[in-house]
Amino acid sequence: MKKDIGFLLSKKQRHEPITVLTCYDYPTARLQDKAGIDIVFVGDSVGTNVLGYKSEAEVTMADMLHHLKAVRRGVTDAYLLVDMPYAADRHVKQALANANLFLSHGADGVKLEGGVEKVPIINALTEQGIETCAHIGHTPQIHGTKAITHGKTVAKAKALIETASTLADAGAKLIVLEKITEEVSQLITRTAPIPTIGIGAGRFCDGQVLVINDILGIGPPFKHAKRYQDYNHLTFEAISRYKREVELGSFPTDANVTHIPSDKLARVQKWFKSNF
Ligand code: KIV
Repeated sequence: MKKDIGFLLSKKQRHEPITVLTCYDYPTARLQDKAGIDIVFVGDSVGTNVLGYKSEAEVTMADMLHHLKAVRRGVTDAYLLVDMPYAADRHVKQALANANLFLSHGADGVKLEGGVEKVPIINALTEQGIETCAHIGHTPQIHGTKAITHGKTVAKAKALIETASTLADAGAKLIVLEKITEEVSQLITRTAPIPTIGIGAGRFCDGQVLVINDILGIGPPFKHAKRYQDYNHLTFEAISRYKREVELGSFPTDANVTHIPSDKLARVQKWFKSNF
């Protein structure tokens, strides 16, 4: 069953956690969809996690479209969310054009980083029937890769709660809370009419999102994430064993090769002898 925004909202209402993972490629998208992940999310973290960029600010629309198209091919049931890259949603006209481009390549909704300055954009996209996910707290496009926790002071806590409410009023259908104190995230979750998706925002959000590389153990560990595999180790070990076996001549073996039938080989050898 294809998951839509109504389904995600009903999960919030039933207090059933919403599961979200970032995804950058076709085979991983197939596995996430098969595992029943609710939202497969093409994040602009593709830049630092896959493309070798120093920051999210380097990611372009072309990068996002390239990865969205691959992920799209692997998703059947999950809600497919895609990130607006840096500066791609600065103006209403530009945001509409870029969001429509994503939708025409199979996205179900678009995520935008930022606070109240995003209200006119979210309003305009909502008017056109485009589903948006807001993103507050730590926003890598604005704050860079060094993340601090938000919502530790009274003023900042109030501002975050008010911002979340304003973005929901503007029409956002989901909101990511990144690196926000658990208590403030809980208050936002309690008051917001839309599902909150936390990353480093504690246990009481309506859903959780993590970067796929972080759960697989690719790259450095983070406090907010959990490693369910050690792909750094597994991948390095596989590469090293392959290299060693090729160098030793123990790969390929007879099991990996295909032979020409012996009668045909005899004819080739005869021809070879007389020609070379
Ligand atoms: O791009 C990304 O991975 C994100 C998540 C941190 C929510 O925006």
